[in-house]
Amino acid sequence: MTRKEAIELLKENLDNINLFKHSLAVEAVMRELAGHFGEDPEAWGLAGLLHDIDYERTKDRPDIHSLEGAKLLEEKGLPEEIVYAVKVHNDRHGLPRKSLMDKALFSTDPVTCLIVAGALIKKEKSLSAIDVPFLLKRMGEKSFARGANRETIKCCSEMGLSLEDFLGISLRAMQKISAEMGLQ
Ligand SMILES: [Fe+2]
Repeated sequence: MTRKEAIELLKENLDNINLFKHSLAVEAVMRELAGHFGEDPEAWGLAGLLHDIDYERTKDRPDIHSLEGAKLLEEKGLPEEIVYAVKVHNDRHGLPRKSLMDKALFSTDPVTCLIVAGALIKKEKSLSAIDVPFLLKRMGEKSFARGANRETIKCCSEMGLSLEDFLGISLRAMQKISAEMGLQ
């Protein structure tokens, strides 16, 4: 599946513009991480782009979120490694994260939410207005971006990345697509 086809598939399944932007953010970070680890940015990007494809159908059913999406992606012929990474990004199913791609997608999902929240509390509402020390400080505040699970973000250690490095890579990736994110 090409990126263009993946975007079309995503648009067929998602109406919410914020969810679409979230998908683009996770894609961007996954691509950056693939580059960092010498992995395939196309495959990692597709996993990021498509990971929440079932979200609008499953948002009230966390027990089936990601299982539905993985099934759809399997039917569409996506490679098994991508299907599995999508399936295990929701850890409710109790399935192990095996590959580096699985681990990357798991931690990338919430880190993008933390970074967007960080940009939005700045008066500039811009990704260029924030840096890693700012994000580290905010991460320690419980009331900030409650939806961005801190423990899941810290699982970046499973990839052998320090929290600081992970935040740096993620922020850099998202800054590259700040226009598409509406956070320029
Ligand atoms: Fe997500």
